[in-house]
Amino acid sequence: MKFFVDTADVDAIRELADSGLVDGVTTNPSLIAKSGRDILEVTKEICDIVEGPVSAEVTALKADEMIEQGRKLAKIAENIAVKVPLTMDGLKACKVLTDEGKMVNVTLCFSANQALLAAKVGATFISPFIGRLDDINLDGMELIAEIRQVYDNYGFETEILAASIRTANHVKQAALIGADVGTMPPNVLKGLAQHPLTDKGLDAFMADWAKTGQTL
Ligand code: E4P
Repeated sequence: MKFFVDTADVDAIRELADSGLVDGVTTNPSLIAKSGRDILEVTKEICDIVEGPVSAEVTALKADEMIEQGRKLAKIAENIAVKVPLTMDGLKACKVLTDEGKMVNVTLCFSANQALLAAKVGATFISPFIGRLDDINLDGMELIAEIRQVYDNYGFETEILAASIRTANHVKQAALIGADVGTMPPNVLKGLAQHPLTDKGLDAFMADWAKTGQTL
């Protein structure tokens, strides 16, 4: 499973990039707004830190405007994945941009049928939002499983990018189902390394080692 970091916080990305665990980054208009920075400038900085795909989202509703914005975003760096919403206009823009050889991430996916449409127009990534479905008492993980089955049934190469991940359990469940990618906030990614028994065991090892008086 590839790990993308879901943030436009350059410092957080830089800190995690050194761990070797970051395969890409996803941003969206809300995350860019939160960063308080210019979209082109901050996205370029992220692309310089991370080699893998960096999703940058269009902010238009009409296909022709999405295509224009997508071309502009794609010029930032070779690893840009243009993010378009799962609407009929977004699907149209996806087709044009993927035909031009650009990576496209179709976002705001909440049903298997939507994911099927994205695959049919050649999306590089489909982003089903787990947490936002859970928020309204639906089952986000069920959607990941459904999309996995649909894509496997037809051999679609569109990668399932499990998004709106809020917890370590989301990551585990999505990995068990076979999502290709999980995008998560930096704190969730860091949290995957944590286990109380690891901490307890390490404390005991360090204490016992100190008693030996040895150095290594
Ligand atoms: C992914 O590309 C989205 O930007 C993100 O995962 C949305 O997460 P949220 O529902 O926690 O805002």
